[in-house]
Amino acid sequence: MKEQLQSMKIKAIDEINSSMDLKSLDEIRVAYLGKKGELTKISKGMKDLTTEERPVVGKLVNEVRTEIETTLANKLEELKLKKKMMKLESEKIDVTMPSKKVIVGKKHPITKVYDRIKDIFMGLGFCVASGPEIDTVFNNFDALNAPKNHPSRDKSDTFYINDNLVLRTQTSTVQIRTMMNEKPPIKIIAPGRCFRFDEVDATHSPMFHQIEGLVVGENVTMSELKGTLELFAKEFFGENTKTKFRPHNFPFTEPSVEVDVTCFKCNGEGCSMCKGEGFIEILGAGMVHPNVLRNCGIDPEKYSGFAFGMGVDRITMLKYEIDDIRLLFENDMRFLNQF
Ligand code: PHE
Repeated sequence: MKEQLQSMKIKAIDEINSSMDLKSLDEIRVAYLGKKGELTKISKGMKDLTTEERPVVGKLVNEVRTEIETTLANKLEELKLKKKMMKLESEKIDVTMPSKKVIVGKKHPITKVYDRIKDIFMGLGFCVASGPEIDTVFNNFDALNAPKNHPSRDKSDTFYINDNLVLRTQTSTVQIRTMMNEKPPIKIIAPGRCFRFDEVDATHSPMFHQIEGLVVGENVTMSELKGTLELFAKEFFGENTKTKFRPHNFPFTEPSVEVDVTCFKCNGEGCSMCKGEGFIEILGAGMVHPNVLRNCGIDPEKYSGFAFGMGVDRITMLKYEIDDIRLLFENDMRFLNQF
């Protein structure tokens, strides 16, 4: 029995030492020390021994067990370490490898122009207001005093969702929404996208950007309109910019004007940019029509106001000398990276 134990021990230790992974090591453990393992089987035979032999063999069984257990534990440590090293090796990072290029985005030129315009008007005490791109025919036309037969109402000019809803053709809808919901004094600018049924060409896009301004209060006058817009023009286009107010007609303002600024490329001399005029048209404006105030529940006897609206795409094109509006909407990085 002693020899049996000895040879089993040698075999077990040999197997343990040549085991390559944790799974086979555990199988060896079960094969020798488990309930039906070889050592257990041998110790069961002890009952047939004499009383003298039994304690001697019992001691030997315990020694063999301890030795196998120690060898197992050592091997277990070794295999675990090996596994960890292999994992570390496989996760090694070569810090000298060239990194992926990080592409940092830039603001779109339209966003840059919006930001600058907003900045100037916020410096003058205006708040930024917004409204939905789909609005009612009432907010887009009726409340703005557009006659029932105004050509801009036609389905060939405006995108209708149904008889009552349109894609707004101007940010003037935000004037209406603000006056309906707030009491004067009101001083807002409203940036946003607008939509008109235009064929796409170098200067037209069915989607474009406007920014609207509205001031309503007691004793608001045309001279404040002029002062505000003159100041804006100087801030935006340069200190030497001159403005020209030409009479015009909008249904929602009376009197109405169109505002030109001296060409910032030739300083008014006349060049290809201003088509020899020396001036460039930048916006429409006027004193809010009493009917518009009335439509929004504001008493025109007590309050007056002015409004203005400008095309941001056009101003962006002028500022950066972009000759085709389509470039602004194609998202070509080669174009956008220039700004
Ligand atoms: N809504 C006008 C347009 O789209 C611009 C404008 C706004 C004119 C406010 C006067 C006052 O042409």
